[in-house]
Amino acid sequence: MDLRTKYLGLELKSPLVPSAAAPLTRDLDRVRALEDAGAAAIVMFSLFEEQITNEEAELDYFLTRSTHSYGEAITYFPDLEEYNLGPFEYLEHLAKTKEAVDIPVIGSLNGISLGGWTEYAVSMEQAGADAIEINLYFIPADPDISSQEVEANYIEVLQDVRKRVKIPIAMKLNPYFSSLFDMAKKMEAAGANGLVMFNRFYQPDIDLENLEVKPSLQLSSPYESRLPLRWAAILYGRLGLDLAITTGIHDGESAIKALMVGADVTMLCSELLRKGTGRLGEIEQEMRHWMEEHEYDSVDMMKGSMSQKSCPEPAAFERANYMKTIQSYDRYPTV
Ligand SMILES: Cc1cc2nc3c(=O)[nH]c(=O)nc-3n(C[C@H](O)[C@H](O)[C@H](O)COP(=O)(O)O)c2cc1C
Repeated sequence: MDLRTKYLGLELKSPLVPSAAAPLTRDLDRVRALEDAGAAAIVMFSLFEEQITNEEAELDYFLTRSTHSYGEAITYFPDLEEYNLGPFEYLEHLAKTKEAVDIPVIGSLNGISLGGWTEYAVSMEQAGADAIEINLYFIPADPDISSQEVEANYIEVLQDVRKRVKIPIAMKLNPYFSSLFDMAKKMEAAGANGLVMFNRFYQPDIDLENLEVKPSLQLSSPYESRLPLRWAAILYGRLGLDLAITTGIHDGESAIKALMVGADVTMLCSELLRKGTGRLGEIEQEMRHWMEEHEYDSVDMMKGSMSQKSCPEPAAFERANYMKTIQSYDRYPTV
């Protein structure tokens, strides 16, 4: 059975790729274990813009003893280094990860503003990254920022990184654009090679006892895969961009669905955090089993077969599906 696939110009032995997250890739033994369990590539956890700019501000502070915003910045920004390493250690870790495994290693840069931090894309390339994933996590909470400005910012950061590095770039997108297709086209024109769908926004919770807003990370549920599945189905075959699905891929069947709607790779995080590294091998077995039962010899045979372009009911991915779905529910509790 041929599970090979191509993503960002990289020849991968299968479509199963652990997604960016420090608990998965901060430890080299775990990275090796992921490779042994069948990981086709590794996406490193992110290096955050704030880590880079804080480190620079810290240096500046000690060099000049000026009082500008450094003090404010350190009290506000959580100490990520304990969790995530500082910028220099990150690059060292990336280089060690490359040495530790034979599979491709993708660096991850996470930020939002235009600025010197994007230079770290070059450092990642020099440290041996086979590709870069850019995650632009931005909440446009300022009423004076227009949607055009938000979108232009995404493109400018991408263009900035594109002109600095030669390796392929994937954009980890959020699903909340008015026209995701248009954004995808613009990203392709700005030099992206792939899209990672989707960035999962973590919603803060309210602590009613202490009247505080508190961060709270919930791992994904399988249902959440439906959103990236829909969008991969719509985009497949219409752009020159590779597609990765992240969010809600928890078993062999959801990975197969991802390929059928047109993903080149499926990324996994929550399921591995819940069940451990070995789960990756089980998921590969589940995929093989399903393919054997349904007489598919290769990932290529499946890829895009249920995309909007190829499936028997293209309208199922659009508004018609919404009307059909609400009609399909006709229950009410008998109390
Ligand atoms: C603990 C944790 C850490 C994460 N760290 C990152 C990160 O550093 N960069 C990033 O782009 N995504 C990060 N993510 C998001 C994952 O890469 C992934 O996109 C998301 O969890 C959805 O996939 P899943 O449903 O398989 O969990 C993190 C997720 C978790 C749960």
